[in-house]
Amino acid sequence: MTLKGKEIILGVTGSIAAYKAVYLLRELVRLGAGVSVVLTEHAQKFVGPLTFRTLSGRPVLSDLFDPQTDAAVEHVELAARCHALVVAPATANLLAKAAHGIADDFLTTLLLATQAPVLVVPAMDGAMWDHPAVAANVATLRSRGVGVLEPDLGELASGLAGKGRLPEIDAILEALHRLLSPVRDLSGERVLVTAGPTREPLDPVRYFSNRSSGKMGNALALAALRRGAEVVLVSGPTSLTPPPGAVFVPVGTAEEMREAVLQHLPSATIVIKAAAVADYRPKESNAVKLKSKQEGLTLTLAPTPDILKEVEARKGEQFVVGFAAETHDVKRNAREKLESKRIDLMVANDVSQSGIGFEADDNQVTLLDRWGGVIDLPRMPKLQVANAVLDRILALRAQMPANVRR
Ligand code: PMT
Repeated sequence: MTLKGKEIILGVTGSIAAYKAVYLLRELVRLGAGVSVVLTEHAQKFVGPLTFRTLSGRPVLSDLFDPQTDAAVEHVELAARCHALVVAPATANLLAKAAHGIADDFLTTLLLATQAPVLVVPAMDGAMWDHPAVAANVATLRSRGVGVLEPDLGELASGLAGKGRLPEIDAILEALHRLLSPVRDLSGERVLVTAGPTREPLDPVRYFSNRSSGKMGNALALAALRRGAEVVLVSGPTSLTPPPGAVFVPVGTAEEMREAVLQHLPSATIVIKAAAVADYRPKESNAVKLKSKQEGLTLTLAPTPDILKEVEARKGEQFVVGFAAETHDVKRNAREKLESKRIDLMVANDVSQSGIGFEADDNQVTLLDRWGGVIDLPRMPKLQVANAVLDRILALRAQMPANVRR
């Protein structure tokens, strides 16, 4: 993610989470943004302006009537030139003022003066967040197009646990990126993505699995979210943090993945199966650990359910995409899989190549569709591959006569 050339206003209000705004500022600057920090009077009781001035390299704004600056003119100019205004943390007081158009300090005046997208990141005590007055203010702001992030669950400054913590910095940056991202061509779509490997247990400590890292599936989920879709990400075990905003459904075995996919299928409009599902599982899963010093061990394997075939059999108008991991005759094998699974689009990757496919940050794929189209894409980062797959889905669906969408 880069924010090069972007002018951001960072508003900080009087919450104990104000210190986290320092980390947010550091990340914004690291990503290339020019950041003007606006502190409310109460914010300064938690963190002083010097810290923000040092990290932003700019004067900190707080007093509308500062005799040193022409602040009244400055706020109009700032409001006009910024690309986004982020308030983090935002107190219940700030939400109330913003919802009712009260402009009694520098920050709230800017909120009225700017035409730029606004992101508000609340942090407060759990009982305050749950209060109907706060919920109504949040609803008012959202109805006007203001982005309001949900606070995280966890331990709060009061010592109690609840919903009210400032979300992680990465989640704030991701929401900001989406706010600044102009392409929203998947809004209204509900995309069901599968990612990662499955694990088929042999005994309580051993399992069959594969090298899938989940990077390709996570990239698809992230790209779809950025383009405005609602996303359900069904993922086998990986070390990745799911993209903020996705409904995340962790699973272990192929059978668990099957259940999760079939549960979310009816509400999906697009299904993309990037997961590397184990084709076989040990027929018997032992309740106790197998002895390690046996002379030899013969295992009987049983096939796992073919989730993609089942999706195809049960689906309505969903557009269904599979991935084919091949090591030879890539296009021929992928076309055979496309036809046997009767899906709309197959994304073929040659997993024998180094630097692409399993675990890699890049991928190189061929897109084969059921109308005979074949598109070879160059090697690129998985997020770019994900966007190319989404572009292809939209293009094919636009050409598809309604009666072909079974
Ligand atoms: O996770 P990464 O490290 O980023 O790696 C990405 C990837 C290589 C895993 C990904 O690009 C990929 O190729 N995913 C599909 C891997 C695979 O299982 O391919 P397949 O040819 O065995 O299966 C074809 C399709 O059927 C896949 O969409 C798969 O999800 C699906 N399938 C397979 C078996 C099964 N029992 N049920 C299924 O639904």
